[in-house]
Amino acid sequence: MCGIIGFTGQKAALPVLLEGLATLEYRGYDSAGVALWADGIQTVKAEGRLSRLVEKLKERSSLSLATCGIGHTRWATHGAPADRNAHPHATERLALVHNGIIENYAEIGAFLIERGYTFASETDTETAALLIDWFYGEYGDPQQAIFSALSMLRGSYAFGVIFREYPERIYAVRKDSPLIVAATAEGGILASDVPAVLAHSKEYYRPEEEILSVLEPGRVRFYTRDGAEIDQKTERVDWDVTQAQKGGWPHFMLKEIHEEPEALRRTVGHYLKDGLPYFGVPALDSPFPVRFHAVHIVACGTAMHAGLIGRHVIEKWARLPVSVEVASEFRYRDPILCKNDLVILLSQSGETADTLAALRHAKAKGIYTLAIVNVVGSSVAREADSVLYTPAGPEIAVASTKAYSVQCAVLYLLALRLALLRGQIGEEEGKQLCTDLYTTVPEAVREVLSESDRIRDCARELITAEHLFYIGRDVDHALCTEGSLKLKEISYIHSEAYAAGELKHGTISLIEEGTPVIALMTASHVAEKTLTGIREVRSRGAQVILITTEAIAQGLEIPCDKQILLPEIAEKFAPFPAVCVLQLLAYHVAALKGADVDKPRNLAKSVTVE
Ligand code: M6R
Repeated sequence: MCGIIGFTGQKAALPVLLEGLATLEYRGYDSAGVALWADGIQTVKAEGRLSRLVEKLKERSSLSLATCGIGHTRWATHGAPADRNAHPHATERLALVHNGIIENYAEIGAFLIERGYTFASETDTETAALLIDWFYGEYGDPQQAIFSALSMLRGSYAFGVIFREYPERIYAVRKDSPLIVAATAEGGILASDVPAVLAHSKEYYRPEEEILSVLEPGRVRFYTRDGAEIDQKTERVDWDVTQAQKGGWPHFMLKEIHEEPEALRRTVGHYLKDGLPYFGVPALDSPFPVRFHAVHIVACGTAMHAGLIGRHVIEKWARLPVSVEVASEFRYRDPILCKNDLVILLSQSGETADTLAALRHAKAKGIYTLAIVNVVGSSVAREADSVLYTPAGPEIAVASTKAYSVQCAVLYLLALRLALLRGQIGEEEGKQLCTDLYTTVPEAVREVLSESDRIRDCARELITAEHLFYIGRDVDHALCTEGSLKLKEISYIHSEAYAAGELKHGTISLIEEGTPVIALMTASHVAEKTLTGIREVRSRGAQVILITTEAIAQGLEIPCDKQILLPEIAEKFAPFPAVCVLQLLAYHVAALKGADVDKPRNLAKSVTVE
């Protein structure tokens, strides 16, 4: 999704803006632009990668002296990726960058046309820029102009605005879109995300919604709509800039997969007390099992797939009914929620618009909400009744990997806590499970990582495939959904995850000579059933890559073309090494194909629009 950046200070702004935009690249974009104050406002924009903008800027050497400016990476929603649609959008008097969507842009457009405005782009954002311009013409005051415009705009936004008449000032405001601001001795900086300010400050503000930030060299002030100056809380990040860099790895995705053992250990360790799960959240204390009669897990993409693992383990261990739902569907189907239900929102970024909307829907119905989120202070984390952070560190690759694994780990701990409180599991067994989760699981994942070259050999078999299938049953099917998503999002190979028993009800007609099928068998109670599915596809010519454990492989004659054996680990923990294999397989296929692994086409890291 779009990224915004701004800097005003005692030194050249352009390098800060370009460096910030490069840091925000991971969010996904298709054009970029900057506006700097250099004897008036100068705007430069370019479709495509940041390097094209840098090329264009070489012809504008006067901009290198500017000390105040804003920048943007655009992920197209309204209007094609093109120079004219790239941000900033400027008038004679101001320039604006925007992350979000102006829902009533047509209505605002009509208002502006009546007042003599014309449009240079097809974007919703330009209407916001022109509306602020119109009010600025009316009142001559930036603050009043911005708040007047906000009262007419519907939708989500994080805006950065500069005015020709205020050469050292940047105005910024947000609603339902992320915004970070920081002030250092060198200057004031704003950005969509923490990594972009990290090189300048570890301390920052996340301004509340509709609070106007006014940045000047060395300071930032905050104002309410009625003009009162107020304070905002500072936050401090506990990781440093190197953690958000590749550090010698060819891709962030590979680096982040390799961070899983440590991230798992850190996450599990964080939620253990006296050897048992402890969350330090009042609502998760003793009334919890009595109070909650059903659990609804709501999330998007990979986080939703982690929810499927959560359902498996909560139902199995705690014997509580769990539903898992895609957040974009949740509120529109008006789900039946009872007052004793628990809604869990899973999100790496904590800014996913659909997940945030689902959270608000549940809260509006008076249902208790629990967020499991990686980004501290993000919108989902702030609005939920309680939050459990997953201390995985920054995840930069668009394809989520370590965040999934740690979400699963927290869900395992939650399942265990529920099981203990509901008397389904005894304390001794609970302690043993926690010890395994803390020690054996990270070790098993580490073992998988050491087999990366062998997994790459299997990946070679897949690079020419146009379609492939992942099959498994029960928890293996849940894992297949994630394996399949991982592969298609970064390698552009079409794939489907199927419950192995469901193939024969239609999809098996797609299997022909050489169709690759990845079969996952970690659950012994359904292994023979999955075997039947494997035999069915193999006898129709499928090329089968089997991922299983030695224990299962020994007991059965499983026909396959290639086999990947998972490390020895208790079956209940097999999802952790198994998903690591699936992530590496997807990674190697994409890397061998020469794909842009960390920034796959059309995708954004943080999906802040509905
Ligand atoms: O930040 P979130 O976890 O809420 O993001 C949810 C999805 O957008 C995300 O998992 C997406 O599916 C990733 N591209 C998967 O790799």
